[in-house]
Amino acid sequence: MKNQEKVADLIEKRVQAKLGGGEKRIASQHKKGKLTARERIDMLLDDGSFEELDMFVTHRCTNFGLENEKYLGDGVVTGHGTIDGRIVFVFAQDFTVFGGSLSETMAQKICKVMDMAMKMGAPIIGINDSGGARIQEGVTSLAGYAEIFQRNILASGVVPQISAIFGPCAGGAVYSPALTDFILMTADNSYMFVTGPKVVKSVTGEDITVEDLGGADVHARKSGVTHFKAESEEEGTMLIRKLISYMPQNNLEEAPLVKCTDPIDRLEDSLNSLIPDNPNQPYDMKDIIHGIVDNGEFLEVHRHYARNIIVGFARFNGASTGIVANQPNYLAGVLDSDASRKAARFVRFCDAFNIPVLTLVDVPGFLPGSGQEYAGIIIHGAKLMFAYGEATIPKVTVTIRKSYGGAHDVMSCKQLRGDFNYAWPTAEIAVMGASGAIEVLEGKKVAAMTDEAEKKKYIDEKVEEYKEKFANPYQAAAFGYIDDVIEPRNTRFRVIRAFEALQTKKLQNPPRKHSNMPL
Ligand code: HXC
Repeated sequence: MKNQEKVADLIEKRVQAKLGGGEKRIASQHKKGKLTARERIDMLLDDGSFEELDMFVTHRCTNFGLENEKYLGDGVVTGHGTIDGRIVFVFAQDFTVFGGSLSETMAQKICKVMDMAMKMGAPIIGINDSGGARIQEGVTSLAGYAEIFQRNILASGVVPQISAIFGPCAGGAVYSPALTDFILMTADNSYMFVTGPKVVKSVTGEDITVEDLGGADVHARKSGVTHFKAESEEEGTMLIRKLISYMPQNNLEEAPLVKCTDPIDRLEDSLNSLIPDNPNQPYDMKDIIHGIVDNGEFLEVHRHYARNIIVGFARFNGASTGIVANQPNYLAGVLDSDASRKAARFVRFCDAFNIPVLTLVDVPGFLPGSGQEYAGIIIHGAKLMFAYGEATIPKVTVTIRKSYGGAHDVMSCKQLRGDFNYAWPTAEIAVMGASGAIEVLEGKKVAAMTDEAEKKKYIDEKVEEYKEKFANPYQAAAFGYIDDVIEPRNTRFRVIRAFEALQTKKLQNPPRKHSNMPL
């Protein structure tokens, strides 16, 4: 072959590789409303920034006649590119090649970009669309999965890892996304389960559809497996780009500072009258969040799951900040097992990647009852406490209204190393709510009363006395547990000032192999 022919041959090979499993299968992928691996990567990365690697890798399997069926690149497209100019490593399983099923060589391709991401200290984004282990390869495929899992584990807390699920993700394959920091699923076409409907039916007799077993909706609402549910692949990829913008490249860096166009001393007058006089009347915590963050922009994580607590990313004076907030609008903002786990995982992500956390508190306590006790609320609540207590990032807490009992301690209180703990004048920081407290303290006396009117009058008086004494922030402020009581409309400015003062914060936990958090 002459040199010029060699160049032409290379060009031809590239064209071939870019066709993956061929035009027919690409058309079939499009017909299902799905994009190809390369189309997805192009949409995710900055225009023209993608550098593909291992385009000429092919599988080495000789079982079931596979030696006669090879595709350049095999079932995954890998490489690097940029998002807003910052480098990321990516892999996208190519469903047009053996249904994106994982071969030994595919695993090697994925591991290569994961290793590079670690070496370069850059995020890794994986797009999943696969029929699982390449059946013809048998155990080498399983080994390949385990190689990926091991890398997911070692990369955890070192570089951000994000998984998009844009197709099937079943069996042991689910564990790579599960080991990463964030999972995103699309409303149609994506599903995740350990065992599919057919096996479920044969083992348990349960009849269930793919969607009901592992669709985006159930994982967004019920299991909490997915952090984001997008309506389309386009929306999903844009969400990933946005999510990445709040993160540093790795655990040794800080998230990029964005130019802030929102005045830092902007007063949000509406907040002064937001809290209803009736302590049992809900309000929307998101009104506060949107009111105080830069330009009202908030990227909510786990939006559909455990809605009694809100977690997500925003910016204060251009600096990326994690927000954890009880939501009085849903289950009165009570802490239950799911909410505790959700918030704990989020706080740990922020701590691992040097993202400060603002905590907004309005919590009536832990959800009582056998349901929660049997679900292990003791251990799950302890997770959140552990996450806050272990975190060394800057932590600012603002108590908006209720902060009762154990939940007060858990929600980033002063003694769990909260750096600046502020309260609104509407805050109620106490062991428990007034009615419950009076029932415990005065129960016997009240039970002995025979005159109903006298009984009611006595209880009302005692409740009022308790409220006067404890349903305010000043007792906590008198002990220095609250650093200042602030005017609600001034919250944005005070929070920004607090985080600015914390920029040089240095805090280290005692040396140890690792903690033993209550899992
Ligand atoms: C090899 C596979 C494959 C697999 C699909 N294909 N899955 N090839 N190994 N695991 C091939 C098909 O033969 C077909 O080839 C092409 O990919 C597209 O598949 P279709 O079935 O036509 O597509 P669709 O109708 O959309 O169905 C998708 C699917 C189905 C639901 C994923 O293919 C399926 O059920 N696959 C098997 C899933 C499975 O049981 N995997 C093993 C799980 S165990 P052609 O040539 O016709 O285009 C596992 C263990 C992992 O994964 C453990 C890790 C620790």
